[in-house]
Amino acid sequence: MEINKHYFDTVIVGSGLAGLRAAIECIDHGTVGVLSKLYPTRSHSTAAQGGIGAALGNEEEDNPEWHTYDTVKGSDFLGDQDAIEIMCYDAIQTIIELEHMGVPFSRTPEGKIAQRRFGGHTKEFGKAPVRRACYSADRTGHAVLFALYEQSQLKGVKFFQEFQVLDIVIEGNAVQGIIAVNIKDGSLHVFESKAVIIASGGYGKIFKVTSNAFASTGECLSMLFRQGLPLEDMEFFQFHPTGLYGLGILITEGARGEGGVLINGKGERFMERYAPTIKDLAPRDMVSRAILNEIREGRGIDGKDYVYLDLRHVDKKILEERLPEITMFCKIYMGIDPSEAPIPVVPTAHYAMGGIPTDNEGRVLRDVDGSVVEGLYAVGECACVSVHGANRLGCNSLLDTVVFGRRAGKAASSTLKNAMKGKVKKERIFLIAECKDMIKRSKGRETVASVRRDLQNAMMDKCSVFRKEDELKILLTELQALKDRYKDLSITDKSNIFNTELLEAIELGHML
Ligand code: FUM
Repeated sequence: MEINKHYFDTVIVGSGLAGLRAAIECIDHGTVGVLSKLYPTRSHSTAAQGGIGAALGNEEEDNPEWHTYDTVKGSDFLGDQDAIEIMCYDAIQTIIELEHMGVPFSRTPEGKIAQRRFGGHTKEFGKAPVRRACYSADRTGHAVLFALYEQSQLKGVKFFQEFQVLDIVIEGNAVQGIIAVNIKDGSLHVFESKAVIIASGGYGKIFKVTSNAFASTGECLSMLFRQGLPLEDMEFFQFHPTGLYGLGILITEGARGEGGVLINGKGERFMERYAPTIKDLAPRDMVSRAILNEIREGRGIDGKDYVYLDLRHVDKKILEERLPEITMFCKIYMGIDPSEAPIPVVPTAHYAMGGIPTDNEGRVLRDVDGSVVEGLYAVGECACVSVHGANRLGCNSLLDTVVFGRRAGKAASSTLKNAMKGKVKKERIFLIAECKDMIKRSKGRETVASVRRDLQNAMMDKCSVFRKEDELKILLTELQALKDRYKDLSITDKSNIFNTELLEAIELGHML
């Protein structure tokens, strides 16, 4: 078996905002290799549309204490308040820094960074909505990602694109490196390092209706869990209120921030009943529950299972300049021009609040006493620092990625001088290679697609916005049955070149 060996001081898994921000921090202190199962600029951060939160106060009075309060309250008081305070106070400098790196933010008429309203963000501790989300039209994640990718390239970060991680190697209490496969030709690669930063994103693909990309399958969380490390707050999964009906594609909260309203089958602006002060701009958990409640009580559109997001009264110029992406999505996927017709929407699985537990510097925690795995860090959606508690506020995820990406990068870099070089043992490599080959040789009766579809349906039916004990118990038995079916998979593609069937089978094992 041919093994390709690499060494970097820091290896980063994932090339979304969290991974790239960490890479930019680390490259000044040593060599950095970034692995991504996609081409880096296709990372799921590009799907973040509406904004990145910071109390700049460019459009109206604001301050980080209000931002902190909103985030603590929005988290249903289950976020870690010290981490939330760090994030909200760091936000301002973070935005300025991104601007200096070249992010093309939208502007106010005087040339300041423009800001819009977003759910749960208020002034004076809940009195009224405030303009806090800095944005780049409705392509904010895309704009930030491209700027960070350019900076990483400029500074000499080495990218391994279309490399899928197979194992995060921990021996004793220290990380040693990563084992990965090059998707292009199936070759095995071992990356030894002093530090490993996991920034691999979420796992929304366990649900049928989701705003998440195909790559959001969560294997890095599962790889650590299988090695006995804990995961935190896994029961908290956010449903974004406005996914395109039938597709789940995100229609940004920025649409409501620009004046869009939700209406039910009776033409009522129903959020007035559920959140009289901030109405359509209530936190996402409240709005998602309200929509599904309207549908359950027969007030969906024509009694069906969706409601409308109405933008017809919003100035056409605003739609063109600030919401061009979702306008295009509506035209392409639904045949609807939002300036002329309301958009059919339902809640869509959007964001994992839980994940790999970390301290405020991104160090991966081993237990509740705060002991860490040496050299191992996690940031972004795969991690749980935890700034979002049971419910993340919109525009706080991009903020989380860059604030904690930088902190983890700093922390990792500060230990390099005294850290030992990682060593991945041959036996471990052979074991991982054998597991991969064993899955590839499978000749059972089940397909990846059918087991995955049944997993996504079961999770959607019994573990989405509303959850009940009896249904969760049934779900547990269904999941066990799916795990049994997984053992009976058949892989028909036996080649090494772009064998996505095999890679999806590996992902499915982790999803289950
Ligand atoms: O609605 C949105 O634009 C999504 C943003 C977010 O999840 O922060």
